[in-house]
Amino acid sequence: MLLARFGRIIAVETRLDSLLTLIAEEVRRILDADRCSVFLIDAYKGELWTKVALGIGEKILRIPLGRGIAGFVAKTGNAINIRDAYRDSRFHQDLDRITGYQTKSVLAVPLKGRDGKVLGVFEVLNKNKGAFNEEDEGFLRILATIAASFIENATLYEELRRSYLETIYRMALVAEFRDQEDTGKHLRRMSRFSGVLASGVGMAYQEAEDIRYAAPLHDIGKVAIPDSILRKPGKLEPAEYEEMKRHTIYGSQMLARAESRLLRLAARIAIAHHENFDGTGYPHRLKGDLIPLEARIVSVADVFDALASERVYKGAWKVSDAKAYILEQAGKLFDPDVCRAFDSRFDELSAVLDEENRRAVPEEGSNLAHHPASPAQGQQPQAGV
Ligand code: C2E
Ligand code: SIN
Ligand code: SIN
Ligand code: FE
Ligand code: FE
Repeated sequence: MLLARFGRIIAVETRLDSLLTLIAEEVRRILDADRCSVFLIDAYKGELWTKVALGIGEKILRIPLGRGIAGFVAKTGNAINIRDAYRDSRFHQDLDRITGYQTKSVLAVPLKGRDGKVLGVFEVLNKNKGAFNEEDEGFLRILATIAASFIENATLYEELRRSYLETIYRMALVAEFRDQEDTGKHLRRMSRFSGVLASGVGMAYQEAEDIRYAAPLHDIGKVAIPDSILRKPGKLEPAEYEEMKRHTIYGSQMLARAESRLLRLAARIAIAHHENFDGTGYPHRLKGDLIPLEARIVSVADVFDALASERVYKGAWKVSDAKAYILEQAGKLFDPDVCRAFDSRFDELSAVLDEENRRAVPEEGSNLAHHPASPAQGQQPQAGV
């Protein structure tokens, strides 16, 4: 039956963002309406937010609590059913003006959490035949009850996931804190490069995302390297370089046998990100496919960023020189497939570089796992480490 199907479909999705889209689409179909919007309360800002389709993309729109139909429902906890929105004094055309949509009939019910607290508002717009009736309202209330518990779970899950990702990122910051001027920058750049390259070699979205989140830990082992080596302004002596190379082993020891999938991935990256495709790298002189693909990807991202940046021991290269070097090392230091992805996605990589370099004083970590649970004013949730 309809409700069972509804529950089954939305139960699969744990990401709040996709869950909302899924719920809206199902409810729209079930109630034969032209649109369905889910508004959620951002108590901190005293606003309701929703995601709307605009052109090819999506945008987060916000309205003050209390304003408009949705605002009224959120505030009073009462349902509203109106035939002609433009004749109702509670309606504001804020959203219609932005989306170019024309609202006629509106049915809106509150979304209530387990404790009866209003979490948001469910709205269906423009019933395809006639106006919404009492039966529709009863139905929407039931759907709202089912959806609310999933939204509550997804919100909790999202918060957990966000704090987990933030913690990982901050561990990585600790490791790079001593040897770099703008620690956050290198990490964000190489992390995003890694994500771009991973999808460039054909990895699925989730796999590429995992690599993006695990990549910042590649040099975590540097915390065990003394300042006299790590911060040496000039060239390292051979013995110093030997010690420096051990950051790969230290890193993998720190992450070894983790339970978390992301940390195990990070361990594979830490141990192998200085292996070279031709077998001349360290610490194990692995060759070709014996080097995990994630490490072959991060290696290109890391070296590209190291070359393009200033370090205590070297100046920054021109981006075009760094690019030429990467491509020239295909089959030597680097996996030719990854180099091909590097070449074909180069525009995207340099856009990341520009964007990160333009970034003002970074709020460390806050951009890592930016989820729309509380998106920035008028902005799209952005995927950005
Ligand atoms: P890092 O600064 O993050 O550099 C990562 C990798 O980028 C290096 O791995 C190397 O493959 C590449 N790379 C960086 N700068 C250059 C460069 O000027 N020319 C070329 N061809 N490649 C470059 P590598 O060499 O295994 O070094 C690992 C880490 O050891 C470096 O991480 C850095 O922290 C440290 N290190 C390496 N050489 C020196 C040095 O001469 N002085 C100091 N103080 N540290 C060094
Ligand atoms: C809504 O549909 O509730 C928001 C539009 C408005 O009334 O301003
Ligand atoms: C993700 O967390 O997997 C993507 C990041 C985002 O959507 O903000
Ligand atoms: Fe390294
Ligand atoms: Fe690095």
